[in-house]
Amino acid sequence: MASKKLIAGLNKALADEIGSILQYLWQHWMVDGPYAPSFMEVFEKASRDEMRHMEIVGERIVVLGGDPTTQSSTVVKSRDAIQMVKDNLAAEKQAVQLYKELVKLADQEKDSATRHMLEGILLEEEAHLDLWQTMLGRMSPGTGES
Ligand SMILES: [Fe+2]
Ligand SMILES: [Fe+2]
Repeated sequence: MASKKLIAGLNKALADEIGSILQYLWQHWMVDGPYAPSFMEVFEKASRDEMRHMEIVGERIVVLGGDPTTQSSTVVKSRDAIQMVKDNLAAEKQAVQLYKELVKLADQEKDSATRHMLEGILLEEEAHLDLWQTMLGRMSPGTGES
């Protein structure tokens, strides 16, 4: 039986996934300027990745006996393309941190199915982190973090 703490943590992750779906989709709709043509596609693809995560996490919460949230975490709407990518980098850093904590928690609770699920998502969030970091470095040399 999953603990309340694990289910609450998964619901926090779910709200963040919903927020990321909306944030990246909004960016897909709204980005303009010289980067727009290539960025529109990247933002949409990232939004779809988060949609997959949302489904997986929501289903897991149900399997564990919880009630999956339909609330979204705060969505940041920046008009500047570089700022959009910076916002995304910050969001993915949080996601990586949260999924690492949840992996640890699932491991402590000897819930290997949930742990494997979380590790799969964690890998993809780390890939997103790399993506935004690389984009930021190429858009504005010198501001990308290493
Ligand atoms: Fe995600
Ligand atoms: Fe992500």
